[in-house]
Amino acid sequence: MPWQTLCPSEAIADGQARGFDPQDRGRPTVFVLRWEGELRAWHDWCPHWGTGPMAWRRDAYFSGDGEALMCHAHGARFHPLSGECTLGPCLGQSLWPVAMRVDDAGGIQVDMGDGPPMPGPAPTH
Ligand code: FES
Repeated sequence: MPWQTLCPSEAIADGQARGFDPQDRGRPTVFVLRWEGELRAWHDWCPHWGTGPMAWRRDAYFSGDGEALMCHAHGARFHPLSGECTLGPCLGQSLWPVAMRVDDAGGIQVDMGDGPPMPGPAPTH
């Protein structure tokens, strides 16, 4: 897939995240965050049920205390940089990374690739 530009990198402040819909799916499929000065791009997909979106409202990817990413379906918390689930029903599993780079003009670009696995049967918990 081609690289797609999402926004200027300075548009995402430290401790903030923004969702994007580069594939015109009608909902965000990738979100980009800055945490401790580092940028990350994750699929808007939770490993618990293998679905998304994670945010309960636009760009609400961080937990209320601002210390973790959070899937609002069942409350799983994820480390912003490693993507690992640190609390919740998918403990030890991880978010799915999106290839990301910053171009010479400072724009954040992503290559959505094949994406995370397709959703499987929903777990019973
Ligand atoms: S679907 Fe994300 S915590 Fe359950």
